[in-house]
Amino acid sequence: MIRVLGIETSCDETAASVVALDDAGSARILSSPVLSQIEEHAAFGGVVPEIAARAHVEALDGLVEAAIADSGTKLSDLDAIAVTAGPGLVGGLIVGLMTAKAIAAASGKPLIAINHLEGHALTPRLTDGLEFPYLLLLVSGGHTQIVLVRGVGDYRRWATTIDDALGEAFDKTAKMLGLPYPGGPNVEKAAKAGNPGRFAFPRPMKGEPRPDFSFSGLKTAVRQAATAISPLSDQDVADICASFQEAVTDVLADRVGKALERFTAEFLEVSARILVVAGGVAANEQIRSMLQGLCRENGFGFVAPPLDLCTDNAAMIAWAGIERLRAGLVEDNAMGFAPRSRW
Ligand code: KG4
Ligand code: ZN
Repeated sequence: MIRVLGIETSCDETAASVVALDDAGSARILSSPVLSQIEEHAAFGGVVPEIAARAHVEALDGLVEAAIADSGTKLSDLDAIAVTAGPGLVGGLIVGLMTAKAIAAASGKPLIAINHLEGHALTPRLTDGLEFPYLLLLVSGGHTQIVLVRGVGDYRRWATTIDDALGEAFDKTAKMLGLPYPGGPNVEKAAKAGNPGRFAFPRPMKGEPRPDFSFSGLKTAVRQAATAISPLSDQDVADICASFQEAVTDVLADRVGKALERFTAEFLEVSARILVVAGGVAANEQIRSMLQGLCRENGFGFVAPPLDLCTDNAAMIAWAGIERLRAGLVEDNAMGFAPRSRW
């Protein structure tokens, strides 16, 4: 049995979790409290780093205590402390890393520094027992990437955004239209009553040979459409949201389709081809059903971990710690590890 405490403070969720892997190889999340700071940031229309860091300081000790208490284990039962050491907002990373180091030092347990993206990348092995290799589409407020996951610690980034993240594009669109933060769910809701064909927004990067994403041109087009109409009626807002969502879904289909083709060409011997989606934008129904269809057409299985494990949480960090322990990929000098905000 391996039991690891995970700590996550890289953005606006404070989270702690205990995950166990038994000798038969089955994994269980014993506890995973998450405290979202959405309300603290909502008035500012986005995450304010100073507010986030302070909120992590206030919440983290209590969350760690709750995670251990709820798990039915004791600190002395744990095999290691895993913590997000980057990338993310440096204030939050410092809070998480210092806390984890203090717990590790006091308990004599090893510390494992985890890259937040590795946490997202390995989650489908916790939830669905996936085998390597598989493709991961990570679409959140901070990241828009297509990653080839080949093994623990063995990741190849096939595509990334050259400007805004997709979640950020949703959030900015919402802000321009006067919809509350976080924008994604509100844009999706408004889009349901809108006409996706009313605005012919650009599809940045669609059809380009390079595999990456770009959303800033689309954001500009949304701003122009929104400022050209005054005052904006509810129907205008709904139509802009629907047209925006249509444009991003179209771009994603093109970019992800290209990656599926590349995977198929490069891994001829792999019979179970899988695309995994993670990140908050994975909650979007239109995007989800497009991905499902795209996978079906290309002979891929589609895996979407439960939403609370798609968005930021500490179970994925604890799990990445377990994976690293099992693979023997634990740094000797993790106590000297400094936060890497751009890791
Ligand atoms: O993974 P996540 O919870 O946190 C980080 O980015 O760290 O992702 C949050 C992002 C936000 O930008 C939010 O607007 C977006 O995910 N999001 C959505 C939806 N729900 C959340 N975007 C589109 N449609 C949604 N239903
Ligand atoms: Zn994340």
